[in-house]
Amino acid sequence: RALSAILSLLSVVSGSVGVGRRVSKYSFPNDFMFGVSTAAFQIEGGWNEGGKGESMWDTYVHNHPEYTADHSNGDVAADSYHLFMDDIDMIKSMGVDHYRLSISWPRILPNGTDNNISYEGAKYYRTLFKELLKVNITPVVTLFHWDMPTPLMDLGGWSNPAIVDFFEDYARVAFNLYGDLVKIWTTINEPHQHCYNGYGKDYFVPALKSHGIGEYLCSHYILLAHARVYRLYEREFKPYQKGIVGITLDAFWADPKDPNKPEDVEAAENYLQMHLGIYAHPIFSDFGDYPSFVRERVNNMSSLQGYSRSRLPYFSDEEIKMLRGSADFFGLNHYTTYLMSPSSMEPDWDIPSLDQDTGVKMEQNLSWPRPGAEWLTVNPPGFRKLINWIDDKYNSLKRIPIIITENGMSDKGQTEDYERVSYFNEYLNQVLLAMYEDGCNVKGYFSWTLMDDFEWNDGYTTKFGLFKVDFDSPLKTRTPKLSAHNYANIVRTRLIDF
Ligand code: NOJ
Repeated sequence: RALSAILSLLSVVSGSVGVGRRVSKYSFPNDFMFGVSTAAFQIEGGWNEGGKGESMWDTYVHNHPEYTADHSNGDVAADSYHLFMDDIDMIKSMGVDHYRLSISWPRILPNGTDNNISYEGAKYYRTLFKELLKVNITPVVTLFHWDMPTPLMDLGGWSNPAIVDFFEDYARVAFNLYGDLVKIWTTINEPHQHCYNGYGKDYFVPALKSHGIGEYLCSHYILLAHARVYRLYEREFKPYQKGIVGITLDAFWADPKDPNKPEDVEAAENYLQMHLGIYAHPIFSDFGDYPSFVRERVNNMSSLQGYSRSRLPYFSDEEIKMLRGSADFFGLNHYTTYLMSPSSMEPDWDIPSLDQDTGVKMEQNLSWPRPGAEWLTVNPPGFRKLINWIDDKYNSLKRIPIIITENGMSDKGQTEDYERVSYFNEYLNQVLLAMYEDGCNVKGYFSWTLMDDFEWNDGYTTKFGLFKVDFDSPLKTRTPKLSAHNYANIVRTRLIDF
């Protein structure tokens, strides 16, 4: 209290906040990276312009319009393919100096392979990166944010081992084209959401519903593809381009439903191992391999289900060496918390699934606010707990920084978005507490997202933007919401003014 009183007094003196307001006890260091995030498919549109090939999302939602909540697609989206200069002005207006965006793989390699590079596609991102740098905004670039070129998806996507080579080829093209301008790369966005919901279930495209098999193949080859690209950069590009490469992993926080029940505490830990540890452990632990819980559980369930081998492939010794330590930072996406207890469902031996392998029941706490997307309840303390879980688990994190690559909330899209303002204030405050009270090594924060966009199977029905986009207007008019002003204030003062 005393410190916060002094701080607020100091801020009054420096003119940043008014008298009597509550401000955060801690402030963000000057070198803390503040940014906003987007993804190509969600904002660009221009789906068949400039020689672009189809991504699996283009193809899937064209063939199955009923798949998205409003039967929409990403053909035009926020039209950032044409309006990227407006996007840059918006970022600039908030005083944010980092922008995380993704390259659409089929925009630069229309059929997915490097035998045909689209000149126009390649030029689009070069222009964009140059324009960002002109106004001192550092691009942070994701190579894969879910929009795989359709021809590669038709071959099985991440479940086909050949994808590892194709991803490496694509990354080499990107490093060659942009490495002089881009110094911070992330390989893959949220492998968990992508593999679990897209390969294991049909919640996301490619909607394979491959029940306890596809999601593990996807995870396995995504991990190998990530590590290959990390090593490629380290060997061929880092010596002169001098950038860094990480990966973006996502996790809900898992609270035990009843913290006094050891079985609920164990269920929460098992959930985190199966959903986050499966990716984080091979890369960030000293072992370079899957967590033992995951390995044992999948092997055990596989044999009970009558399989002669594990549904989770093994890494060779060489691959373990390649994976271990294959990231310069831990990119973390976080949105919400679930409550965990052991599953009481009888296993169905005919239909394996990752959920069954984990043996956990997930529930929402509906006494927490749920302002938009059905899966997202607001629980700020879960953020601090998750950051601590990651910081504690992975020794190498003593050297490797955590960068929050996404965090945000959805609602109906009103510009007076008080709930989003409070969401950002409270979640960011948990980041400060994790840094200052728990000593966690967090170096940056990117809010999701710059503007309303195509929210995957929710289409345009739920909004995550700091800026409102009028999707009905020809110019996709963008208007700052209250949360954009609030974010600008945090970036400027380095404090949270609640
Ligand atoms: C994480 C994904 O990376 C992003 O594409 C999505 O829009 C947000 N979560 C919100 O659901």
